[in-house]
Amino acid sequence: MSQIQLENIVKRYEDGFVAVKDANLTIEDGEFMVLVGPSGCGKSTTLRMIAGLEEVTEGSILVGEKRVNDLEPGDRDIAMVFQNYALYPHMTVRANMGFGLRMRGIDKTEIEQRVNMAAEILSLQTLLERKPREMSGGQRQRVAVGRAIVRQPSAFLFDEPLSNLDAKLRVQMRTELAKLHQTLATTTVYVTHDQVEAMTLGHRITVMNEGVIQQVDTPLALYRKPINQFVAGFIGSPAMNFIHGEVTDSEFRSAALRLNVGHVNHAGDAILGIRPEDLIHATDNMDPLFTAAIEVVERMGHETVIYFQLNGKSMVARFDDDIAAYPGDNLSFSIKERRWHLFDARPEGRRIEC
Ligand SMILES: Nc1ncnc2c1ncn2[C@@H]1O[C@H](COP(=O)(O)OP(=O)(O)O)[C@@H](O)[C@H]1O
Ligand SMILES: [Mg+2]
Repeated sequence: MSQIQLENIVKRYEDGFVAVKDANLTIEDGEFMVLVGPSGCGKSTTLRMIAGLEEVTEGSILVGEKRVNDLEPGDRDIAMVFQNYALYPHMTVRANMGFGLRMRGIDKTEIEQRVNMAAEILSLQTLLERKPREMSGGQRQRVAVGRAIVRQPSAFLFDEPLSNLDAKLRVQMRTELAKLHQTLATTTVYVTHDQVEAMTLGHRITVMNEGVIQQVDTPLALYRKPINQFVAGFIGSPAMNFIHGEVTDSEFRSAALRLNVGHVNHAGDAILGIRPEDLIHATDNMDPLFTAAIEVVERMGHETVIYFQLNGKSMVARFDDDIAAYPGDNLSFSIKERRWHLFDARPEGRRIEC
């Protein structure tokens, strides 16, 4: 097992495009680190550089104490699991899982032992003699994971391993991967564009955008204190609402609302962020923050999602319970105690602490 370090990593592709810009990141020994961000932000490029499948343009990658930039993928003691499984169709599950070990000249008894152990961890014992085509997508994905486990590498790399599975199976496999990590505690770097996967699996999460690491933190810290507007909008579903306005004398003011934000080291243009779940229905004895006409109501039993416009901007609110509110109604909203966020109105949208 090993720590993985990225030091000032830059990836410039042959056409000149810079996919990763000066990335610095330490993944602790035994940690489950998730890399998350929108499509094209450089997640796979980063993972492939760690794996050795993509050359590093600048900077160093260390696995344990060792700089691995110039090591072949096979010499890095790291196992990667891909989205498309990449199993050999003509081989049984047993042969697929043992293949890499056979290539390394590991002896038969040892291979047998490791394959059996992986099969047990992944509940594949009864499927060992099957071919990939005789299995479901979820089972195939487990075999792909099994092939990584038997190598007993110092780290696992996963690139969107669940995105080819249907929604139900994805949730199930997600739990299995979490359990697997609890059992093996192998350093893991897991790439996904799905923020729910990121939040549920990661000990820590690295949020990337346009080749730049935005924030590295625990799931709850990202949720509670996003460092900028990008992270604030990316983590959480439905996404955070943003309202343009300005801060004057401890008060945020926009055309639609006024909110006392206490002492703030900022004056002028700012953006107020409110998560849909932090809006509440203002009852008669509360001062409403604003009132708006409801456009759409989605009732899902465990929650109700309400869409409305505020000064021409689409907004979303999410309530735990059902509420007697219907399209066309005017509804008064308030906000949970101090559950708002303030961001700089400049393009980088940095968080303003209050
Ligand atoms: N071989 C390549 N040559 C040039 N650009 C590439 C190459 N591979 C990927 N890219 C670009 O690098 C960016 C990051 O890609 P990638 O790491 O695959 O993103 P992600 O995995 O986050 O979706 C994208 O804009 C992509 O088009
Ligand atoms: Mg990718």
